Amino acid sequence: MQRAVPSADTPPAGAAADWTIPQNWNDYTASEHATWDALFARQATLLPQRVTSEFLIGLDVLKMSKPGIPDFKELSERLLKATGWSVHAVPGLVPEKVFFEHLANRRFVAGRFIRKPEQMDYLQEPDIFHDVFGHVPLLAHPVFADYMQAYGQGGLRAMRHGAIDKLARLYWYTVEFGLVRSGSALKIYGAGIVSSHAESLFALDDPSPNRIAFNLKRVMRTRYRIDDFQQSYFVIDSYEDLLRQTLDTDFGPLYAELAQETDIEVETILPVDIVYTRGSQAYARAKRGRR
Ligand SMILES: [Fe+2]
Repeated sequence: MQRAVPSADTPPAGAAADWTIPQNWNDYTASEHATWDALFARQATLLPQRVTSEFLIGLDVLKMSKPGIPDFKELSERLLKATGWSVHAVPGLVPEKVFFEHLANRRFVAGRFIRKPEQMDYLQEPDIFHDVFGHVPLLAHPVFADYMQAYGQGGLRAMRHGAIDKLARLYWYTVEFGLVRSGSALKIYGAGIVSSHAESLFALDDPSPNRIAFNLKRVMRTRYRIDDFQQSYFVIDSYEDLLRQTLDTDFGPLYAELAQETDIEVETILPVDIVYTRGSQAYARAKRGRR
């Protein structure tokens, strides 16, 4: 998830003014490294046919198959060479302004803790596996790297327009839960999907969710779910197209327009949507029935 909260308190004790902390890589225990390895092995088996090829190239370029939790120093050295990005530890969620400033300066902030073995399938706060395995490989791709920086710059602008909630939807439906067209197939690239075994299957195979062609304004009107699998996924044509749409849009007038329009519910399909899959929503309905 977007690792930011609205409030702008001072950094916690031990953190720098930009909220970063040392990763203290030597402090990880053997069992924490083993948790990373188990999560890595499970996704490495599942993903090759499902994930965008740029993600797999990123894993390779960054040598992320090396056993154990990655050392951010080593990872940043490789990433700096590839695209000028680096990875820094933070204690938890950071204020929005801090988060956007890091992205705008090509710095990715990540949690340093790893989930417990009994949380292999779900945890609420993003851990190092979500942040690093999920997000960092695509930062080695030049176009996606530029998109993430543009998002950070856009975030600082959105703060001035009071439109963070609208912009956050763009992050959610691309960086976290995006799908991309690859020939006649769809592939996953969002970090929330690639770091989740169950959603890596659900997002592509399950008949429940909608899969709809990406449209910037439409996405920024769409609510999202934070507590379960998505009910709609948005499909980009390419990273180039995503970056171009982001850079070519004049967000000031767009925010003014969005302020006049109603939100779109998570499961809604609009007549103008280009639909890859009209979802049955059976999964979400069954879940609702059980609540
Ligand atoms: Fe995330």
